Amino acid sequence: MSVAQTKAGEPQAKRRRIMAGMRPTGRLHVGHLLGALQNFVALSQTGDCFFEVADVHALTTKFESSGQIASDVLEVVIDWLAAGLDPEACTIYVQSRIPEISELALLLSMITPVSWLERVPTYKDQINALGPAVATHGFLGYPILQTVDIAIVRGERVPVGQDQLPNLELSREIVRRFNHLYGPVLAEPEALLSDTPLVPGTDGRKMSKSYQNAILISDDEAATNAKIKTMFTDPTKIHKTDPGHPETCPVFFFQRVFNAAAADDIALRCRTGRLGCVEDKADMARHLNAYLAPIRERRARFESNRALVEEILGDGTARARSVAMKTLAEVKGAMGL
Ligand code: TRP
Repeated sequence: MSVAQTKAGEPQAKRRRIMAGMRPTGRLHVGHLLGALQNFVALSQTGDCFFEVADVHALTTKFESSGQIASDVLEVVIDWLAAGLDPEACTIYVQSRIPEISELALLLSMITPVSWLERVPTYKDQINALGPAVATHGFLGYPILQTVDIAIVRGERVPVGQDQLPNLELSREIVRRFNHLYGPVLAEPEALLSDTPLVPGTDGRKMSKSYQNAILISDDEAATNAKIKTMFTDPTKIHKTDPGHPETCPVFFFQRVFNAAAADDIALRCRTGRLGCVEDKADMARHLNAYLAPIRERRARFESNRALVEEILGDGTARARSVAMKTLAEVKGAMGL
């Protein structure tokens, strides 16, 4: 199958351009898999997908300790490929390798009012949480750079979680302002809200690397089993015979996802004191490991062939860059530069 054709042979022009970005946070976990990557894989089967590792965005918070960003980028891409993204069917690339992104960010910064940026909730929240020192020029401009990520490859749909909606709304406003000032050059992106629930970590809070409660895609079976053994369950169920509350139990969350056919029965046995947490965890671990097995196998293959990963990134970046160069040229022309 050629990249320019869908499976049905429909020309690329008719496929929707989908753009998504992820900051390189290092190795990804099951929360990423269920929250974003499965969706990326599904979208790349019908849409013309551009998936970017947003390493310049990582600098907005990590500028003092940037030494690991390049290796984090590679880990993220290996996890994407492990999850099943097919580099023949979508475009995978790195933000910092496309200088046109930085140039367009400067141009769009000229037309973006500071007040629009200051009212973005994540900006206000981060300053309240971490103090004014995080408020660099680049951090304030984070949504401009994100707008460029999308607009420069002509992204029409952007798969995001709820938390990204304010950023996307701002992207639409910036694009509208540009088109109003200089003519209809940029596409107004639309959010593709995925309806994935919050994935709990081993402590019951949202799965997150910073909480140390994550099961990584790169964990092996033994590490996964060990983490699941320590997993939080319904605190009111101490003995097997105590009635449990599966709806609030993180172990049951994963049973429902990875052992769906048995979930009703598991819930009933838990509630009626016929299933203990130890047995439940071992059973859940088996199903999660079975789901992860082919993903881990692919991960191992890419991990031992980094030259191939680099080649995939090189191809993807070249493809994305040629689109970016055209968009930038049109923008500059429209602006009179
Ligand atoms: N801000 C996004 C996040 O934190 C990451 C991101 C960067 C992004 N550029 C993007 C998302 C472009 C969608 C489109 O998750």
